[in-house]
Amino acid sequence: MARDTNGAVTWRTLLNETIEVLGERPQARWICETACGLDGDEFLAELDEPATERMVAQLDAMVARYRAGEPLAYVMGHWSFRTIELMVDRRVLIPRPETEVVAGRALELARSFAERRRVVDLGTGSGAIGLSLAAELPLTNTEIWLTDFSVDAVDVARANAAGLGRAAANVRVNHGSWFEALPVDIRGEIDVVVSNPPYIAEGDPEVAESVLEYEPHSALFAGADGLDDVRAIARNAREWLRSGGWLVFEIGYQQGDAVKALLEGCGFVDVAIANDLTGRPRIAEARNP
Ligand SMILES: C[S@@+](CC[C@H](N)C(=O)[O-])C[C@H]1O[C@@H](n2cnc3c(N)ncnc32)[C@H](O)[C@@H]1O
Repeated sequence: MARDTNGAVTWRTLLNETIEVLGERPQARWICETACGLDGDEFLAELDEPATERMVAQLDAMVARYRAGEPLAYVMGHWSFRTIELMVDRRVLIPRPETEVVAGRALELARSFAERRRVVDLGTGSGAIGLSLAAELPLTNTEIWLTDFSVDAVDVARANAAGLGRAAANVRVNHGSWFEALPVDIRGEIDVVVSNPPYIAEGDPEVAESVLEYEPHSALFAGADGLDDVRAIARNAREWLRSGGWLVFEIGYQQGDAVKALLEGCGFVDVAIANDLTGRPRIAEARNP
């Protein structure tokens, strides 16, 4: 979309051009809003105002990246998850709608601990699950730990935690592999462990091209059957959970039976596999007796 910006270009013109180029109205609107730095009604109020040269350059760059196949979340640099807005880039997985359901279940379980609640989000990536719990749980007597093995992800999660406002005071972000990232004094004292670990089998043909090209592979793959990380977490989780504490996993839609057997084999009780919004079995939960 090359144009001379000396003659002022309004956001209305830019929006119409972007819709025409992309052929996708919502995506065009979101990209324009990001370039403009305003959204919703504030963006609409700006439609007949001229864009600056710098904004036009940013818009053109974003449109080019999106047309080249880069996921919209990375192009915009931010993405909504439940009640919060997260900064995302290629250092972290793009948070998915099914993970919002996983976070919702972890939230319900955390709320069942009325007096105080300590929640751990293992493999936090952008911080999506843990930070949305921090935002939605009471400000008092809530402690949320976020961990990741990727230094890049820890940086992104910390940046997102800083944007959380008052609830950020309840959040700790630690680097390390699964439970090794946690201080030993909370061993046996955790109410809910929630994780969306890597769970795709190596070589799985169902993985979309754009996922393979743009998203971090360390967030995706976990051995021949995709369950290496689920096994690593499940085998250590009971030692870290309090008695009556819960473990919640996001899993692949074909992994329910294997994960149920694994959790029962580790001595968990009340093991259940629940569906995501599309009706596929994607959420595993289990209680430490
Ligand atoms: C599927 S992504 C989930 C990210 C985020 N929780 C979400 O739902 O969007 C898995 C995450 O686990 C992290 N991870 C992989 N191996 C790990 C390990 N050994 N210890 C801790 N985190 C690990 C990856 O870096 C990645 O951020």
